[in-house]
Formats: sequence, C-alpha cells, structure tokens
Amino acid sequence: MHTDTISTGRLSRGLCGELCVPGDKSISHRVAILAGLAEGKTRVENFLCSADCLHTLTAMQQLGAVVDLEPNTSIITITGTAMHPKPPREEIDCGNSGTGMRLLAGVLAALPFPSRMTGDESLCSRPMGRIITPLELMGAQITACGARPGCAPLEIKGRKLRGIEYTLPVASAQVKSSVLLAGMFAEGTTSVHQPTITRDHTERLFSHFGIPCAVSNGGLTVQIGGGVFPQANNISIPADFSSAAFWVVAACVVPGSELLLRRVGLNPTRTALLHVLRRMGADIQISNEQRTCEPYGDIIVRSAANLHGTELEASEIPNLIDEIPILAVASAFAKGKTTIRHAAELRVKESDRIHTIVTNLRAVGGEVEEFDDGMIITGGVPLNGCVLDSFGDHRIAMSFLIAGLCAEGSTTLHHCENINTSYPDFAKHLRQLTQ
Ligand code: S3P
Repeated sequence: MHTDTISTGRLSRGLCGELCVPGDKSISHRVAILAGLAEGKTRVENFLCSADCLHTLTAMQQLGAVVDLEPNTSIITITGTAMHPKPPREEIDCGNSGTGMRLLAGVLAALPFPSRMTGDESLCSRPMGRIITPLELMGAQITACGARPGCAPLEIKGRKLRGIEYTLPVASAQVKSSVLLAGMFAEGTTSVHQPTITRDHTERLFSHFGIPCAVSNGGLTVQIGGGVFPQANNISIPADFSSAAFWVVAACVVPGSELLLRRVGLNPTRTALLHVLRRMGADIQISNEQRTCEPYGDIIVRSAANLHGTELEASEIPNLIDEIPILAVASAFAKGKTTIRHAAELRVKESDRIHTIVTNLRAVGGEVEEFDDGMIITGGVPLNGCVLDSFGDHRIAMSFLIAGLCAEGSTTLHHCENINTSYPDFAKHLRQLTQ
C-alpha cells in the first residue's frame, strides 16, 4: 500500500473517548508572522507543526527571525526582527498555503528590498489579484509571474506604503489580513471594510502583540495606524476547530458515538458549523469555555439518530468555509435537502471544492446537484465505499475518509500526503479512534 493511500470502512461500534487535535492553522501562521516581526522573544505553545505553517515559519527565518523548536513538543520560541527584517537570500516557498502567501505578501510589499514567493502547483493556480489590487493601491509593486494570469510566483519590489481605505470585494480574512499587515508599515491609517464578518484572528493577535487596532461597524470595519511595533508576548494556541470538525461530524453520524474534544478554539468567527449541525439535529455541548484572547473549550458530541437537512445562510458561509467539505458529508447522512449556496469561494480553495465534493459524493452514491456557487445535497441515501482521489486537497481527503466510516464496504483515498498541510496526526488519530 502507498503511504499516501488511506482506507476506512463502516464501523460496527461508535467513536468513543477523547482527543486533542493539533493547534490552529490560521493562528499559527499569524503568530509566526507577528512574533517574527516583534521586538523580543515569544514562546508559543501548541504551534501547528504542519507543512503549511512550517513554510511560513521558514519564511520568517529567511527574513531574520530566530526560531527554536523544543524537541518532541509543539513548543517553539520565536525571536523577532523588531520590524527590521533582512532581505531573504532565496525565494520564499509557501508550499500549499494561500494564507501563508497572501499574509506574507502584505509584509514583503512594505519592506525595503525585493523578494519572490512561490508555491506548489495548486497554490500557483490560485488568485493573487485579490491581494495585489489593494497592496498596489497602497503603493506596492507586485508582479504575478505565474503561467496563469494573476497567479504566483509573485515578484515583489518592497517600498514605502501609504494607508488606504479599502472595501473587500469578497469576504476574505486572508485579503483583510494582508492589507492590515501592510498597514502596520504604512504611512497613515489603513481601514478595511468587509461585506460580512470573516475570521478575526489578525485583529485579536494585533491586540495580543500590543498593536492598537480599532474594530467598528459591528465587526465589519477594521482600522490600524501605520508605524506600529509589535511586542513579543507568549501565547498558547488552541486546537484547530477546522481539524476538530472532522471528528465532530464523525461522532454525529457514526451510531453509538460519544467524543470529547479538548481545548478546541471557539472563536465565534469560526464556529458556524456548530450552529448548522445543531439546526440539523446534532447533539453537541461545550464545556470548560475559556474567554482568553482566542476563546477555547471542550466539545462533547454524541451521535444523532435523526439528522435532517438545512439551508445555509449567506452570512454563515465565511464562518464555516473550510468546514463545507465535512458538512457536505454530514448532509449526505441527513434526511432531506441541505442547500449550500453563496459559496463560490470554494472554487478557488486548495482544489475546486464544489467540483471535488460533488465528484466524490456522486462516486459513493450520494445525490447532489451542482451550482456555480454551491450544491444541494439530498441526504439519507445509503453510500457505497469505493476508490476516490483527494485531488491533492487535505480537507477533501479527510472528509471522505470520515464518510467511509458510515459507507458500505471500503473507502480508499489516494493522494493523502496533503493531509500533512494541516493535520499531520490525522491517520494516527483515525487509527486510535477506530481500532
Ligand atoms: C484563512 C481564511 C480563509 C480560509 C483559509 C484560512 C485565514 O480563506 O479558507 O483556509 O487563515 O485567514 P479566505 O479568507 O480567503 O476565505
């Protein structure tokens, strides 16, 4: 068997016990960048040592940050560059990570030297115009040199930037964060208006690292002054809600399950999946909630006998965008129709997730209608395991391995190596819970 192939089969008993999923990916990227720019040493507990975040950490090392990893732990210490990064000797490789590339572009655009960023085939086919446009309005000079227009590799000639007021044409936390990070270095004030609320980790971490940042208009407008200086500040990163989501859905759909997921990030801009699953009839409870810079708590999930379909609201989409592959799996086991529209952004993720979800759901016998901006799934039809491709997309791989736990026969996913981008212990945790 290839090491990048994983199979699951129908479970004869529930998923029981407890689990700690690894640290949050979005927060780990931002901590690497802000601690890497800060003055002083930041000790980071539960940093996500996955391929995506390690690429961002390496980029910050290329810019002069010093990183010490405590062996056999997920604790790292980052000594920052005190807002004086040095020119990288080589091109910066962001791997598979859109977050890494878009956020770093905001920093690199403002630095007084040229740099070049690249990534893997998937990343080099994703739209970068969405960050190039606002960064150029701030005075940046960025050339997209990819084979596809507007795509990476990016060549950046760093220069002095000026603050802007920018309205995001798409609800994207990556674009918001890229502009705000550039705003730290710019002359004057930078304001970003979002059409709907997107994840607010950048804003929360600005405060954590001592950077004044004003949030107004019900969270839709974020403002930062230029010339600010982040100060090192130790942090413990909660478990990634998006990784926990696979087990939340698994426990909902596998009969006889009762799972406890410990210290999971519960930032309200990330947890719309919980509201949607509860609306579908799921039995989910939260305990030990802690209201720190990034709130977290324990999630207790028990299997739900009668899940039923629901319709997602447009405003919910950005707050569960990464959970749509696993929500689609939950919907396939829920009676009736689940409508997921207003989600065209899925087409430009690590894969075209509307196409890859629909293709794999149909392959296992699911009933699904495809739209430009989403899908309607008719659930409750028995699924039959088969051989599937992950399309090089970590969340597609993990979602359909979970589907396999309730499908007839065996479900085999090829090309699972990309699970390492976000959840390196997934296969181990799957074995732990199922064997
Ligand atoms: C992320 C934001 C989301 C999400 C991505 C991580 C972030 O992308 O899909 O996995 O860390 O800011 P968009 O903001 O582009 O929707």
